[in-house]
Amino acid sequence: SQLDTKSFTEPFRPQYHFSPEANWMNDPNGMVYLDGEYHLFYQYYPDSTVWGPMHWGHAVSTDLVHWEHLPIAIYPDKNGWIFSGSAVIDHNNTSGLGSPQNPAMIAIFTYHDPVGEKEGRVDFQTQGIAYSLDKGRTWTVYADNPVLKNPGIKDFRDPKVRWYADSEGNGKWIMSLAVWDKISFYSSPNLLDWTFESDFNPDWAAYGGVWECPDLFPLTDTDGTQKWILFVSINPGGPQGGSATQYFVGNFDGKTFSTESSETLWLDYGADNYAGVTWSNVPESDGRTLFIGWMSNWQYAQIVPTHPWRSATTLPRNLELVKKDNGYLVASRPVKEIEKLRTESITVSGNSFELENELVELLLSPNQEDFKIHISNDKGDRVIIEKSDQELKIDRTQSGFIDFSTEFPAVHNAPLHAIDVKNIRLFIDRSSIEIFINDGELVMTELVFPTFPFTNVNLEGISDSNTLHYLNGIW
Ligand code: FRU
Repeated sequence: SQLDTKSFTEPFRPQYHFSPEANWMNDPNGMVYLDGEYHLFYQYYPDSTVWGPMHWGHAVSTDLVHWEHLPIAIYPDKNGWIFSGSAVIDHNNTSGLGSPQNPAMIAIFTYHDPVGEKEGRVDFQTQGIAYSLDKGRTWTVYADNPVLKNPGIKDFRDPKVRWYADSEGNGKWIMSLAVWDKISFYSSPNLLDWTFESDFNPDWAAYGGVWECPDLFPLTDTDGTQKWILFVSINPGGPQGGSATQYFVGNFDGKTFSTESSETLWLDYGADNYAGVTWSNVPESDGRTLFIGWMSNWQYAQIVPTHPWRSATTLPRNLELVKKDNGYLVASRPVKEIEKLRTESITVSGNSFELENELVELLLSPNQEDFKIHISNDKGDRVIIEKSDQELKIDRTQSGFIDFSTEFPAVHNAPLHAIDVKNIRLFIDRSSIEIFINDGELVMTELVFPTFPFTNVNLEGISDSNTLHYLNGIW
């Protein structure tokens, strides 16, 4: 496709984040690696800049940073619109849909039947599959869809499927599914026939909204301890209002997930990282757990001042299990491939400096308990990032265009959970700011719409030697 050579020069157009060329995007879907390509599918409505009948848009990348836009992969059909889901490579041809020589790429997604919904039925969300035998370029919808019928509950969606092998090496597919206010696990030998295994919904979790887009995967810390992690996106009910992703640390025995967490943990304390899940089929030689999220919030996603597209993804991140005094946490770090975008690298001294362009990565180290980072332009737009009283705060109340939504202009607080801030990494890409504290132990991802690019940085409580990288755009 030649679409990616178009200029992407509109106001607020992300320059080093993925965004669709035009029209509406929400959740990232079906991320899977195959033969040197990272696939990114996404919730896409090609006829408007607001949500509508969902398709799976598609892009590929060889480095997680530069993306090639591809034609729409999966279209709505007689079973309904194509909601969120995942993709796997069926290496053992368990489904019979490919062959051992050419294993199928299989997408497992939710059908949302708008007719059933309109008629007031409750069983209008079911799970279906589609497969590709040519590296995701063309797709065939499975003839006997749906593969998992609805047991009679309205919210029954977002299947995330992975291969699970027990200690004897016996394997099966495990599906995590969001079912209103719980996660249900199903298993299958072949991706076609599914058996209910268990539910997960501890009474102390966050229940401010519907549970969506689960993801279950193992992570191993630097001491070699393995934990199973369960992500559950929730909307509304996030720490900043609206959408956010909570997670649980625990164990999965092939049937049941149990958690050792006892309080709600949030993957990202910013307002704008939702519905993110991990890549499947990443080679063992790589070994990373790779993640990308939707960089928006249902509170205002459909009215942000961008045209002719809406929404971008977060920076791709790799997830790490980190042991702290008070338990385990999942850190998210920008993937190292992002560093390829660095052009000029400058050591900035002093606590005030200018930005010459809007594509910026800043590496800062605090020299006091509390600090303040003030990012502004001479039109009066500013964003203030501040640490005080064991909280990290980001203030976007004066960040530029804010009044498209009463919920957008706000000060967002994140508890530091006794994290001692050692380093701060901050990315600015025209309409987003991503802040990573201590290599991603605390993350805040926030949209901003400054009326002019930010040109000034002022620092308080930060050492006077820091690094500024200007980044290349990817389009
Ligand atoms: C999350 C979500 C999913 C659903 C999709 C529909 O943002 O609501 O639960 O599958 O978006 O586009």
